[in-house]
Amino acid sequence: MKSIRLHIDKALGRVTNKQVYAQEPTVKACIGKLHNGTGSGNDFLGWLRLPSSITNEDLDEIENTAKALRDQCEIVVVIGIGGSYLGAKAVIDALNNSFDWLQKERKNPVILYAGQNIGEDYLYELSEILKGRPFGIINISKSGTTTEPALAFRILKKQLEEAVGKAEAKHRIVAITDAEKGALRTLANQEGYKTFVIPDNVGGRFSVLTPVGLLPIAVAGINIRDLVRGAADMEKATGEDVAFAENIAAIYASVRNELYKDGKKIEILANFHPKLHYIAEWWKQLYGESEGKDHKGIFPASVDLTTDLHSMGQWIQDGERSIFETVVSVENPEHKVFVPTDEANLDGLNFLAGKRVDDVNKMAELGTQLAHVDGGVPNIKITMPEVSAYYIGQLFYFFEKACGISGYMLEVNPFDQPGVEAYKKNMFALLNKPGYEKESEAIKARL
Ligand code: PA5
Repeated sequence: MKSIRLHIDKALGRVTNKQVYAQEPTVKACIGKLHNGTGSGNDFLGWLRLPSSITNEDLDEIENTAKALRDQCEIVVVIGIGGSYLGAKAVIDALNNSFDWLQKERKNPVILYAGQNIGEDYLYELSEILKGRPFGIINISKSGTTTEPALAFRILKKQLEEAVGKAEAKHRIVAITDAEKGALRTLANQEGYKTFVIPDNVGGRFSVLTPVGLLPIAVAGINIRDLVRGAADMEKATGEDVAFAENIAAIYASVRNELYKDGKKIEILANFHPKLHYIAEWWKQLYGESEGKDHKGIFPASVDLTTDLHSMGQWIQDGERSIFETVVSVENPEHKVFVPTDEANLDGLNFLAGKRVDDVNKMAELGTQLAHVDGGVPNIKITMPEVSAYYIGQLFYFFEKACGISGYMLEVNPFDQPGVEAYKKNMFALLNKPGYEKESEAIKARL
């Protein structure tokens, strides 16, 4: 199998290879806990076998629903926050044309997002752009009670019903939520929307390979079977029976934990391929929410390079030495662009004439890696043969598996997110939500 690969030869800094391999028994115990379901959060391990357990019928149903939305809509708004939109946006941005919405002959609907913030101007502008255009909605919330998506859905549902009538609107709305619980489930049953279920044992940030990610990705015209196939191949390649030295998820988890113990508190996920920006956003949620607890955990950050070398590059090269970098490197871009010869050569770039833009990018990547390593920034590299649904599927599963192992190595529960509730409690108290009277009084006394 052609595969994404992990390179740690430049990674280690003060951490030795021996230290990484000495973690084998600990890592194996963590993998055992995942596979036997004996670790904390073991009621949220459904993601572990998702790729190999999705059936053809599941995929058919998602594709048929996607087709119905594609046939009816010029725009599909995906409503969701956190794990309920990041995976879909990561794949769609990575695989669609960067200037998609400007293409004249469109094959696919434009995918827009809502409910991932409470920006009034954002919602106003979205609602304006939808006026007079045939649009549909995929409303995603595992809990079915999250404020941001609920607010956006209330506004857009009204707009859609006013535009096309309630009877037609219900054919353009799909809800993805819990099988039984939550306000979205109640509403969807009441209104008769097409629904998909997010399994109880799959947490939001691990849900990209359920209808949460797969339906929007299929609506965008991307082959979800390739994505699932990539993930299924990585499920095998990182299985319990795979030797430690061959298991890239095990090695990655081990390296980052050794670096953390050595004082590297921040991991920067870097790319030299701007279309991967949202892959990093998805990764940040996965690792931040899984590991950042009990006052522990590596802080996940990200940069797009070379863009951010002209801003954050200074900090990475010369700032506090508490960081390490993981570069997602794409071996082959989809297209070729050559540097032209220019007779006047006023920019002095004729030495590059005839070379591909990617040749320049690759040397920028190598030069950056060497500079950062020289500057005391350990450097891990993950290579992807190309940006395709298949390799993104591999990458997703690789990061998920490594995250589960890594969380157990850190001795936290990687599958809960208790900290996310704190702001919600305060917000509801400040907004005088019924049931929050005592909290309201207490918080207002602090202002
Ligand atoms: O990882 C998680 O579970 C969370 O970050 C959720 O993805 C996010 O809060 C959205 O939740 P929900 O899908 O319940 O609206």
